[in-house]
Amino acid sequence: MTILVTGATGNIGSEVVQYLLERKALIRGLVRDPKKATNLAQQGVELAIGDLSQPETLDAALQGIEKAFLVLPNLPNQVELECAFIDAAKQAGTQQIVKLSVMGAGELPSTFQKWHRQIEEHLEQSGIAWTHLRPNMLMQNMRWFAQTIAQSGSIYNCVGDTKISHVDARDVAAVAGVCLTEPGHENKSYILTGSQAITFNEIADIFAKALGRTVAYIDLPPADLKAARLANGEPEWYLDAELELFNCWKQGAGSAVTDTIATVTRHPATTYEEFAQYYAQTRGQDFFATVRG
Ligand SMILES: NC(=O)c1ccc[n+]([C@@H]2O[C@H](COP(=O)([O-])OP(=O)(O)OC[C@H]3O[C@@H](n4cnc5c(N)ncnc54)[C@H](OP(=O)(O)O)[C@@H]3O)[C@@H](O)[C@H]2O)c1
Repeated sequence: MTILVTGATGNIGSEVVQYLLERKALIRGLVRDPKKATNLAQQGVELAIGDLSQPETLDAALQGIEKAFLVLPNLPNQVELECAFIDAAKQAGTQQIVKLSVMGAGELPSTFQKWHRQIEEHLEQSGIAWTHLRPNMLMQNMRWFAQTIAQSGSIYNCVGDTKISHVDARDVAAVAGVCLTEPGHENKSYILTGSQAITFNEIADIFAKALGRTVAYIDLPPADLKAARLANGEPEWYLDAELELFNCWKQGAGSAVTDTIATVTRHPATTYEEFAQYYAQTRGQDFFATVRG
């Protein structure tokens, strides 16, 4: 059985590939640009060139695929593209799709949560067995703060002292890997969080300890955060959607803790301290080089 992994060069998809490789699964990675995936090919991943915005490229990629992992970044047409993938998978006879969704899908009034629920519903109605993975904010997002830590020893947000149960993308990927290789996860939704909810002040302290320098959390009014990030080149539609979510978080919507990662993977969820250590030692050279200046 070959498993198709979309987003194989991305945060979560690349970790799904690593998890499946370690378990000797046969993997086909969907990539737009094979030059970005030479390391995957070297590790034995079959590459399929495809783009979800060009559904005609998906037929060959889905040929003979029984199970697929579906992820796309947040794009203005994310719902349309993911639904087109589901339709192509149905046509190709795919039997299960593990869909990367988001915590709060179907519950929160924020844009990304509404989009993901629309895609989940399309998948549920397709007749394909589904597994919805709904992670909270990824610990890996902390790379976004490298520049401001380097410049001013600060991380910025607008969520006050609200607690968020950040989750490691590797743990999300491990749950996806189990759902793709073991039975019993069909037609289920999993909310995926870290083992504790912490504030941005606590995150600043964790990074200060890991880096051996002062790191402070600065809470900004939402409009000021938006203006700063707009000036940094981020698209307005994306910032507006994020601010909607941050507003929900301020009311406590990001603080729930579940034990799903430990239950499904049989390993405890990574703590923020463990993530900071791992990131420093393996993936974070660029981050920490920037931060140390
Ligand atoms: N970040 C968070 O805290 C968080 C938390 C919960 C849920 N989520 C959800 O996670 C998703 C993003 O996951 P991620 O962080 O793993 O994304 P990512 O790192 O941005 O990776 C996106 C992947 O999708 C590929 N891709 C982009 N456009 C494509 C297209 N048109 N056709 C085929 N492939 C395409 C990219 O390939 P290229 O290499 O070619 O660009 C890349 O491999 C979003 O839906 C978001 O709502 C995120």
